[in-house]
Amino acid sequence: MPIETTASVVAEVPDDTELLAVPYASDLSPAVELHLPAPDLLAHYEAKGEAGEIVEVPVARAGGVGRILLYGVGDGSPRALRKSAAALTRKVKGRDTLIVVPPDGDVAVFAEAALLAAYTFKIGEPGKRAVRTLVFTGADEERVRRAETLAHAVALARDLSNTPSSVKTPAWLAERAGEVGVPVEVWDEERLQADGFGGILAVGKGSASPPRLIQLSYTPDEPAERHVVLVGKGITFDSGGLSLKPTENMKFQKTDMAGGAVVIAVLGALAAMRAPIRVTGLVAAAENMPSGTSQRPSDVITHYGGRTVEVLNTDAEGRLVLADALAYADAVLDPDTVVDIATLTGAITVALGRNVGAVYSSDDALAEQLVEAGQVADDRLWRMPLIEDYKPALESSIADMANVEAGSRFGAGSITAALFLREFAGKRPWAHLDVAGVGRSTVDEGTLSKGATGFGVRVLLEWLTKGRPAGRD
Ligand code: BES
Ligand code: MN
Ligand code: ZN
Repeated sequence: MPIETTASVVAEVPDDTELLAVPYASDLSPAVELHLPAPDLLAHYEAKGEAGEIVEVPVARAGGVGRILLYGVGDGSPRALRKSAAALTRKVKGRDTLIVVPPDGDVAVFAEAALLAAYTFKIGEPGKRAVRTLVFTGADEERVRRAETLAHAVALARDLSNTPSSVKTPAWLAERAGEVGVPVEVWDEERLQADGFGGILAVGKGSASPPRLIQLSYTPDEPAERHVVLVGKGITFDSGGLSLKPTENMKFQKTDMAGGAVVIAVLGALAAMRAPIRVTGLVAAAENMPSGTSQRPSDVITHYGGRTVEVLNTDAEGRLVLADALAYADAVLDPDTVVDIATLTGAITVALGRNVGAVYSSDDALAEQLVEAGQVADDRLWRMPLIEDYKPALESSIADMANVEAGSRFGAGSITAALFLREFAGKRPWAHLDVAGVGRSTVDEGTLSKGATGFGVRVLLEWLTKGRPAGRD
């Protein structure tokens, strides 16, 4: 129950409204009787109309006092609208109903942000509850439904990522994938062995909870032109393995399956929207643990398809599970495009920080589309280069490749990781999203809550559906 707030639509402000939000810019509806003209009130409070600014005004109502929240919308851009919507939801925490006169612009953007700001994850006694109902007056019902679908998909990804790893085994993740409304196929450890998924098996070897490969298939009602494969890193806990992480870094690694969570949530949302595109999701799920059965630094593993890799650092495990899934997608699924998403490297947090994710691609058009979709959907991406000069970093004298650079001549940890993945993606248009920096939030602010962010759900859905409402081409 991550977002308990529901969104609905009415034609006009109801007569019995007790709590009403009105954008600064709009003409106040006749249902609202202020004791002073709105411009005077705003001047009195020195309100500037910025996004996120809210001026609360008590109004006399039959039998009591009602409240009006005059809210700023800044420059009215989608970014500003998101900020003002999130501020409203946070302002009315614990209340029953907020009637909202929406601002000019796309109400889907506004409603989505308002709902996301209501997300909470708490095990045990619930804290102060979010507002129960948001009612948007005069809004396009279809746009509000789309907002709800998107917000709930993000919330699912956050829930999966926020779940403690003591609960979240690879098998558990496969069960959750089975609940989103699309057919699911699961490889257990025996089948992984039989089919040659040496990377997933090697990473999962040290754990008492065996690995899984999870395949989710969404097929639209009408035959689709395009087939996209999404691949997600599903490390349910990343201790580093025998290349053990220090505690300070390890405690955040329950969200190392955030990419996989995004893939599961996106497949569910596509089905809910009845999107007109065929999409297959792959989640390479394993727990990276140190034990007597773990893989060792210096082991050589054989990936799906036969390529060999010398494992110099067991903490560079994400690329090992993804390599299997990418090779399988290329050999068996015949996609038009492959996109993987992974909390892959600490290095990308150094490069881009916590607000912008990385996209790498062998295909300029695909990179451009994803950057553009990210801008629209508010999952911002920055294109990073696949620098050929750094390819020798991954040379091995005893295997086809090494999983990390042996020395420190090249550096560029996020780029070399992307170069590693590229070797397994085949010749098809492929993109890789490194979301290690943006997958987890350290603040409760705006549309984010502390913990998993669900970053990737909105950009991928925007890219796959181009903002189209449910059931339309
Ligand atoms: N899961 C981590 C990356 C990560 C770090 C995600 C911080 C979220 C927050 C990944 O498996 C990892 O350990 N990467 C190593 C790679 C290195 C050994 C080449 C890293 O970034 O240190
Ligand atoms: Mn790791
Ligand atoms: Zn990892």
